[in-house]
Amino acid sequence: MTEAWRPGDEDDGFRRGARNSVKVRVPAKINLRLAVGPLRPDGYHEVSTVYHAIALYDELTARRADTLILTMDGEGTGELALDDSNLVLRAARALAAHARVPAHARLHLRKQIPLAAGLAGGSADAAAALVACDELWGTGLSRDDLAGLAAGLGSDVPFLLHGGTALGTGRGEAISPVLARPTTWHWVVAVADGGLSTPEVYAELDRLRAAGAAPPPVGAADELLAALRQRDPQVLAGALGNDLEPAALSMRPAIKQVLDTGVAAGALAGMVSGSGPTCVFLAADAAGAATVAAALDDAGVCRDVHLAHGAVAGARLV
Ligand code: C5P
Repeated sequence: MTEAWRPGDEDDGFRRGARNSVKVRVPAKINLRLAVGPLRPDGYHEVSTVYHAIALYDELTARRADTLILTMDGEGTGELALDDSNLVLRAARALAAHARVPAHARLHLRKQIPLAAGLAGGSADAAAALVACDELWGTGLSRDDLAGLAAGLGSDVPFLLHGGTALGTGRGEAISPVLARPTTWHWVVAVADGGLSTPEVYAELDRLRAAGAAPPPVGAADELLAALRQRDPQVLAGALGNDLEPAALSMRPAIKQVLDTGVAAGALAGMVSGSGPTCVFLAADAAGAATVAAALDDAGVCRDVHLAHGAVAGARLV
């Protein structure tokens, strides 16, 4: 157990109970249902979404240091800026300021979650940084305090601390867990070449709606929540929906071919993940998912294909 910290307890700026090195694993998210409401005065859209954490992970290692530095390998290396704009460093600094400790850590990010893909990879890394630095520095923040910092970093960050399957409201940052008996759902994740900008996809939806060219909104999450309780993938497939999908398709028409390929290969449903361009497919079981993944690979319609079950835990020490 960690002893309570008292003023004067610092050792090299680190609190008692702090560790030399910690590793955190954090999943990607998909939205089983993403209902987008009107644009708010603060530039965000009101949403009602059902988040679902899937077994596609980034890993963040944090070590003691006398400065703050971030390195990385894997997805997005050479593309992702490692300066102060990086959400990992912003998360570390936000935690340090809140807990009044020096923001000193050597952080290394190992990325599997692609950038700008609609899988909340950046938000996942911010959640991982909060959990890792809290442990490294022995700051011992409550889950509520961490969630408050998370919400300041991005709409999806609180969910990535939480994980599992959860309802997100407000701009997505207000999380309440979905209570359903644990069920494993089998997903195939088709990663596109190149990303899409989330603000641009939201703006495209506003444009389509203003022009009367958007399909009817997917509506509230009730049907999806009922489908989760039935634990039947066929039923869940019928309840999936994403208001951002037509906007992502309008900006990147090639997504249609990916969706068609997965469904033709036997997926129960295919949808754009979040703001895209990643597509996710629900399969009846692990074997069905493997068939869909192989067909997507063979068709050469995407850059990368992953098998990923859900729901899994959020950012956790490993
Ligand atoms: O919260 P986050 O920084 O991830 O959001 C990125 C951008 O996505 C926002 O600046 C906004 O343009 C758009 N967004 C939105 N409505 C939301 C969430 C995000 O319009 N509920």
